[in-house]
Amino acid sequence: MVDTDNFTKVAEVGDIPEGEGEGYDVNGIEIAVFNTGDDYYAISNRCSHQRAPLCKAGDEKINAEDTWTGERGGLNAEACTVSCPWHLWEWDLETGEHEASGQRIGTFDCVVDGDDILVRI
Ligand code: FES
Repeated sequence: MVDTDNFTKVAEVGDIPEGEGEGYDVNGIEIAVFNTGDDYYAISNRCSHQRAPLCKAGDEKINAEDTWTGERGGLNAEACTVSCPWHLWEWDLETGEHEASGQRIGTFDCVVDGDDILVRI
């Protein structure tokens, strides 16, 4: 039994496909929750480089010339990292660290309680 005091429900199991992430607003704080297949991780949804939304990592998108680009960035479940969709900075999902720059963004405790995915802000 998980002690869920001070946790907020953001999603239900099945809402976040394995290998992907979704963005949520919890009391005005933007977070991204990633599903590695083994576990869920909550991290700031804003890359500290130029504030790209990390939840878009791995998505296809339309570029400025209105043409589809391939996937950019994405979750690396084995390394437990996500690379930013804009300039590919790689963030550690457990520590929030970008090793090359030494910068760090917020990470949050994330638990599954029954069918609910909860985070502690
Ligand atoms: S905005 Fe994330 S790497 Fe540039």
